[in-house]
Amino acid sequence: MNIAELINPKIRTQPIYEPGKPIEEVAREIGLDLNEICKLASNENPLGASPLAIQAATHALSKVHLYPDGASYYLKESLSQHWNLEPNQFTLGNGSNEVIELIGHAFLKDGDEVLMGSQAFIVYKLVTLLFGAIPVEVEMPDYKHDLSRMLDKVHDKTKLVFLPSPNNPTGTANTENEIYEFVRALPDSVIFCFDEAYAEYNQEAPNLLPLIEEGRKVIGLRTFSKIYGLAGLRIGYSYSNSKISGLLNQVREPFNINSIAQVAAVAALKDKNHVITCREQNKVGRDLWSEELEALGIPYIPSQANFILAEVGNAQKLFFELQDKGVITRPMKPYGLENHLRISIGTCEQNKHAVEVLKGIYNK
Ligand SMILES: Cc1ncc(COP(=O)(O)O)c(C=O)c1O
Repeated sequence: MNIAELINPKIRTQPIYEPGKPIEEVAREIGLDLNEICKLASNENPLGASPLAIQAATHALSKVHLYPDGASYYLKESLSQHWNLEPNQFTLGNGSNEVIELIGHAFLKDGDEVLMGSQAFIVYKLVTLLFGAIPVEVEMPDYKHDLSRMLDKVHDKTKLVFLPSPNNPTGTANTENEIYEFVRALPDSVIFCFDEAYAEYNQEAPNLLPLIEEGRKVIGLRTFSKIYGLAGLRIGYSYSNSKISGLLNQVREPFNINSIAQVAAVAALKDKNHVITCREQNKVGRDLWSEELEALGIPYIPSQANFILAEVGNAQKLFFELQDKGVITRPMKPYGLENHLRISIGTCEQNKHAVEVLKGIYNK
């Protein structure tokens, strides 16, 4: 029998996530040295992880012949102190990406509707489709989530709402009041997932805890991939009431968090100064990009995150031109934004270099 006949019918049309290009791949393709490549494509932390996290991770290498602690006891204890919540209110994932999938496993079935913005982080749509549910994409005027429009789309088939703030790729954020009003207006049958992957970059990030205390069905989603600089270790988590986290934990793979990620995350969480430095450096870089884009006459969307979305015209063409010169960015065609390029904020040096390369192309 042909393998195609054996496929789960949902998978036949399942779109595939397109990640940012790894430095090694671009170096191979265009024959540049690894050191000549500047990757501003995946919203990573260009300053790297806290030295404390690196130290803890290095130390943990001597124990990799042992399975990790499947319950991630120490990491949950650290998170519990960090948030002032109980350890059983957390669910850890191999990146917050995995937690998004756990939410799908736990809650989504054929025909459920899942609300999301039309330019919201694309994984929500992919996970929704994977579980046979229906993505309902709500227009985002000015590239920002319009919560009253979203509320209008809620009806009896709505199971879940995804809301990222700041959103990737637009960098736009919703205020605490907007979120509170929206969540309090949702019917009790709807789960609200608030994705805070970039919250540490946003000085005015909403506090979800009062909504959890009120007994709302909300899930906060966090990651160590962004400001904590641990993207390569794959570690993220959710916090919620213990009933929801119990369900999410029930559907996860027993050893989904490796031992190195567990200790690195504990150490990263402790290093508050590193977070502050990274946030400040990011702001300097973001301001530089905003000024330079403005000077070049390139419209951009003011960002609360560690990237900036620029309306460059033919984004695919510019992406290749930049890549030929060793600067990797991200064209936003998968989001229906063919004229937009997303540029992650790099180190001071990377930003200046990439700006010069961009100017060279524009002033040709
Ligand atoms: C909004 C948002 N949420 C979640 C993620 C997933 O991050 P990770 O799986 O690395 O924790 C990303 C990654 O880019 C993101 O942009």
